[in-house]
Amino acid sequence: MIDRETVDRIFAAADIVEVVSDFVKLKKAGSNFKGLSPFSNEKTPSFFVSPGKGIFKDFSSGLGGNAVKFLMELEKLSYPEALRYLAKKYNIEIHEKEITPEEIQEKNERESLLEVSNFAQKKFSEWLWNRDEGKAIGLSYFKERGFREQTIKNFQLGYSLEARDGFTQVATEKGYKLEYLIKTGLTIEKNNYRFDRFSGRVIFPIHSLSGQILGFGGRVLKKDEKTAKYLNSPESEIYHKSHILYGLYFAKQEINKLDKCFLVEGYTDVISMHQAGIQNVVSSSGTALTIEQIRLIKRFTKNITVLYDGDPAGIKASLRGIDLILEEGMNVKVLLLPEGEDPDSFAKAHSSTEFTEFIEQNETDFIRFKTRLLIGEAENDPVQRATLINDIVRSVAVIPDSIVRSVYLRECSKLLDIDEKILYDETYKIRLRKAEDSEKRYYRQESFQNKPEPAQPELTINIKKDFKHEHELVRALLNFGNLQLFPGFDDSPSIMKYVVDEVREDELLFQHPVYNKIFQIISELVDNKMKIDMDFFTRHEDIEISSLSAELLLEDYDGQMSPLWSKNNVRLETEEMKLKEIVPELIISFKNKKVLDMIKETQEEINHAQASNDMESIDLLIQKMQILNELKRNISKKLGDRIILH
Ligand code: CTP
Ligand code: MN
Repeated sequence: MIDRETVDRIFAAADIVEVVSDFVKLKKAGSNFKGLSPFSNEKTPSFFVSPGKGIFKDFSSGLGGNAVKFLMELEKLSYPEALRYLAKKYNIEIHEKEITPEEIQEKNERESLLEVSNFAQKKFSEWLWNRDEGKAIGLSYFKERGFREQTIKNFQLGYSLEARDGFTQVATEKGYKLEYLIKTGLTIEKNNYRFDRFSGRVIFPIHSLSGQILGFGGRVLKKDEKTAKYLNSPESEIYHKSHILYGLYFAKQEINKLDKCFLVEGYTDVISMHQAGIQNVVSSSGTALTIEQIRLIKRFTKNITVLYDGDPAGIKASLRGIDLILEEGMNVKVLLLPEGEDPDSFAKAHSSTEFTEFIEQNETDFIRFKTRLLIGEAENDPVQRATLINDIVRSVAVIPDSIVRSVYLRECSKLLDIDEKILYDETYKIRLRKAEDSEKRYYRQESFQNKPEPAQPELTINIKKDFKHEHELVRALLNFGNLQLFPGFDDSPSIMKYVVDEVREDELLFQHPVYNKIFQIISELVDNKMKIDMDFFTRHEDIEISSLSAELLLEDYDGQMSPLWSKNNVRLETEEMKLKEIVPELIISFKNKKVLDMIKETQEEINHAQASNDMESIDLLIQKMQILNELKRNISKKLGDRIILH
């Protein structure tokens, strides 16, 4: 038990921004901070932290609360665990009595699994440093590999004695239940015999984002051993291989700071690079990267560089996996190491300056890398060439940002010497097919019955002001969406169809999650040739949707005309009469705002790239800027003397 006084001290010390920043990359936004929600996969930040109020609010999941709540939700900690975590972070001492064997048995399963794993890590480290066998076999192995003592301690490496069930015995003597030893895989039970999974292996503990031990990798030391070189913990309630990245706990701050993450294959690659001073590095532990792992990285940065051993067969096999990363909207680069080297050996053979220089000079943008890699093989073979083009276009097609896609298509058209238009058409076809597939899946699943979300509406931001353009457009849609844009003309599109088509044409996104949700629903209605039924929105299960749409409807009746709807200071008689002018204006203003935002953002990225001398990126970003400027010119032309909203 933690006494009340200590609890108060912990709450007083815990700075919500600091606590959250260990998990989420936050940016200042007025008096608040914002970032991408760690509770869902989103492209547009809807996760807010208010340092003044000491709370967070996540609009995508509806979760909100103080620092302890945040840790409980994100790390699935219990209340006391979260308090203990904070106490450790802020060096607050907690006096607790030792846990007795009886108490150990009472803990819930998850906690018990964590506890036994924590015990195992301590034991394995103790054996590595203090037992003769550990020192002679384990420690000397790590030292031979060039790991310094500080590194070995930092990564909490260990050694499991050779004795068949040495660990199982020690653990059961200490009161840890056999059930949990088996569930964590530390003990294997076969035909009533029990033995240690990791006996005679050096141990690499695997940490959660908050530093808890979730599992282990164990490496054999004997060369002629018949068993696998590495053994890993089996799947359990605490260890989900596909959701974990080795080294992320040690790398997250540096990833955040440098806004970039290196991805390598194995445990030793991570450790050696760390030792060489490159600390923003994680490993997928030998398997293909999963979507969950990519999203873990995305919480901290959008920039990822994949390090490859110089083995062409291996590289080709893994290219497809990288499309997954592109699909998440991340910027992917590739670093090819010299033939026969892996990051581990390379880090050892070179100084950290040499390594860093090598990275700077050889890091290549993924699409370029892939194009160049494949182009050589296909040179004079038309069939292979067609496959190659298709292959590259498929990679480009998954990129969510349309402008980034354009940049790549230009680039590839040059590299491959193919008409840009052909590449565009191919990309379009692939995207169309994908969209159709997901649409079909969507309707099979749930039609319009959205799942209820535990939302607590508490709008801490002034959405009307910050999202003026989106607000007006959605307001027009909800109020007038069913009307004809050109009343009286038979083939006139409805307002809703017109708006949806226009927004889709440029693949623009609504920034605010609730406007975005409403727009998505309306798009689906358009696709199904259905009309807007206001009750559907005002009675929507998602409280944010229902409250916002109610508000948008009410606005019409409060006697106050929106300033955007009057022109040259002349009040419009009724909005409905002028829809055919107003709606296109709103669209253009909306687009104009988006492009200006993107230009600003790209300029920031260029500055950032220049500061870090990243020539590859600068090059691509400048091309992106050119396209954006073209867009801006087109919009300006259309704007003419129309009202521009800023
Ligand atoms: N791996 C695994 N099981 C295996 C082989 C490999 O889980 N049987 C994982 C480990 O995470 C390992 C990574 O794949 O770190 C890369 O494998 P490999 O290149 O063979 O290992 P290295 O990390 O280079 O290990 P070492 O240098 O110790 O041989
Ligand atoms: Mn190796």
